[in-house]
Amino acid sequence: MFAVYADRAEPDDPLAALQLGERPAPDVPEGWARVRLRAASLNHHDLWSLRGVGLPSDRLPMVLGCDGAGVDDEGNEVVVHAVISSPDWRGDETLDPARSLLSERYHGTFADEVVVPRRNLVPKPSQLTFAEAACLPSAWLTAYRMLFTRSGVDPGATVLVQGAGGGVATALIALGSAAGYRVWVTSRDESKRAKAVELGADQAFEPGARLPERVDSVMETVGGATWSHSVKSLKAGGTIVVSGATAGAAPSAQLRHVFFRQLTVVGSTMGTRDELTRLARFCVTTGVRPVIHSVRPRDQAREGFRQLLAGDVFGKIVLEWNHA
Ligand SMILES: NC(=O)c1ccc[n+]([C@@H]2O[C@H](COP(=O)([O-])OP(=O)(O)OC[C@H]3O[C@@H](n4cnc5c(N)ncnc54)[C@H](OP(=O)(O)O)[C@@H]3O)[C@@H](O)[C@H]2O)c1
Repeated sequence: MFAVYADRAEPDDPLAALQLGERPAPDVPEGWARVRLRAASLNHHDLWSLRGVGLPSDRLPMVLGCDGAGVDDEGNEVVVHAVISSPDWRGDETLDPARSLLSERYHGTFADEVVVPRRNLVPKPSQLTFAEAACLPSAWLTAYRMLFTRSGVDPGATVLVQGAGGGVATALIALGSAAGYRVWVTSRDESKRAKAVELGADQAFEPGARLPERVDSVMETVGGATWSHSVKSLKAGGTIVVSGATAGAAPSAQLRHVFFRQLTVVGSTMGTRDELTRLARFCVTTGVRPVIHSVRPRDQAREGFRQLLAGDVFGKIVLEWNHA
């Protein structure tokens, strides 16, 4: 089958490790299911894998891709939940110490077929295209959990989203505004600030700008470049939810602000199968749809990776399969 995969680790030049070509079709173990992919979307996780982060050399070659939507062997249209937990794990899959994401231990979604535990299949709402559905399992699910499960703030609260252009950030803006939060964003780029407002943000600011007032919660995926602003922008007793650190993972902790104003810093990673099901339903009931930067045929994966690496995107980069 056709696949997009990593055959080595290239820490400084991830695209050099990217391969497009034939790989063996996967076997289907008892209790697992095969999905013929119709669409898959790119994440930074795929670039980290090409750099060798979280993907040791003894697991190579590895088919990349966490996110996908397609059709199973029974003809059902499905979205693939990317968190693979142990067979005997019960409850929140993201808390299983032995969990992995697709493409870490088991081959990922950038292929004609992917094989996952049957319980990882979530029905795809007919109202969503395959390309839209393929954006949900990582960036959109991460945003959903950050805002609705981990932040602890209710609709009507003011939420600051740092780095408006990213996949998680655009999801936070769309989900937050549809759910009745007042969403403020920062972006380095004027056109991204304008697009964020079009998407539902109440106001958009330059990075580090003094805000009209302090916010109830900050959604942080940028890391080092925005952390200090996040801490200073938060109300006493407020919460920063952090799920990524694109621009550096070791900023100053600003501990004086943290204890004196009694701030809470909460980590968040991916989401559960139940949250993915609710996210898909939220999209149907509200009419919100994933923001897609570009859709390309699967054999143009390298161009999609180039775009992601360059960072000049607003929303998700999607690959499509045409099995006809
Ligand atoms: N924990 C999880 O489960 C999970 C799931 C998905 C993603 N993530 C992580 O979340 C992060 C965000 O991923 P993403 O794909 O949504 O977006 P992304 O492409 O990493 O970009 C996020 C935003 O960060 C801002 N940014 C990047 N470099 C910057 C810098 N040097 N200075 C200031 N701002 C900078 C940019 O905003 P502007 O250009 O608008 O300023 C960009 O749009 C990644 O680190 C990813 O690994 C985690």
